[in-house]
Amino acid sequence: MGALESKGRTEQNEFAKHVEEGLSAKEKRISSMYLYDDEGSRLFEEIMDLPEYYPTRCELEILKKYKRTILELTCIGTEIYVVDLGAGNGLKTMVLLHYFTGRANFKYVPIDISKSALNDLENNLKLNYADLPFECIHGEYMESLRSMKSRPDVRKLILFLGSTIGNFTFREAMHFLSDLHDALNKDDLVLIGFDIMKDPHIIRSAYNDSKGVTAKFNFNLLVRMNRELGANFDLNNFLFYPMYDPSTGEMKSYLVSKTEQVVYFKALNRSFQFHTWEPIHTECSNKYDVKMIEELAVRTKFEIEENFYDSKKYFLDSLWKVR
Ligand SMILES: C[S@@+](CC[C@H](N)C(=O)[O-])C[C@H]1O[C@@H](n2cnc3c(N)ncnc32)[C@H](O)[C@@H]1O
Repeated sequence: MGALESKGRTEQNEFAKHVEEGLSAKEKRISSMYLYDDEGSRLFEEIMDLPEYYPTRCELEILKKYKRTILELTCIGTEIYVVDLGAGNGLKTMVLLHYFTGRANFKYVPIDISKSALNDLENNLKLNYADLPFECIHGEYMESLRSMKSRPDVRKLILFLGSTIGNFTFREAMHFLSDLHDALNKDDLVLIGFDIMKDPHIIRSAYNDSKGVTAKFNFNLLVRMNRELGANFDLNNFLFYPMYDPSTGEMKSYLVSKTEQVVYFKALNRSFQFHTWEPIHTECSNKYDVKMIEELAVRTKFEIEENFYDSKKYFLDSLWKVR
């Protein structure tokens, strides 16, 4: 078996193990990380272009406006690695890279679990940014990052954009950022995109668009389990249900079973029972206020260098330094 084939097998086994654990839990859930297969990544790009999906436009505005300040706060004449965690199509990052080119000595390191997103990004870089030094890493954030700690001579600017931090609960975000802190060296920087609490209608519409693309993005998880794990989900037996709780900032999405049903998984050689109106939690996209962001930074041993808002104050890119 070749190395690539073996990596593919391991990923498949991890997916199977995760699904088995998630569907055996009292409250069924599957990590949003598994929404991003080839089709999921394509659908996410479609979501980013939707009129209701404000985060991309807001963050783009921030990066365009503050790219110079971000570079000034990052660069002290040394070599930098710009590490893009969950880079996706890297569209917004390109604003920074374009500005950094010729002004800083840097290498771009996008990391993503989605092979197709990374392939598209690589092709775009080769075609449109021929002079830009880069190294794409296909894998999970933290595993990939840890392998870079051994270069304390190189300052890192970690980008965690697109409100991907919101896919974690507050407690998970704290663990993730503590691990991130430990994988970095003193004075390394992290730019994190936080979606800010706002009119609940605006938030809910962003995850319940009128064209139904976000619903399709979530349903694609069932399609993926049918294809990769030999499951026999009937998509007609589920409905998509997103809900926002303004008291906690939690935006949660579910696929809800419309009927009593049993779904068989060939890869697991077992079935799962779904009761009528029983949900599978597929995604959380948590919203923050500044106090929560400050608490996160303090508790994970980072210092906030600067907060950059868009003009509507819908979104915040917060620049943190390792204490
Ligand atoms: C919300 S999108 C953000 C994409 C991009 N950073 C942006 O701001 O538009 C999340 C990205 O993270 C990737 N991703 C999700 N979980 C991951 C993980 N555990 N390790 C690496 N990449 C992951 C997905 O494939 C997807 O491309």
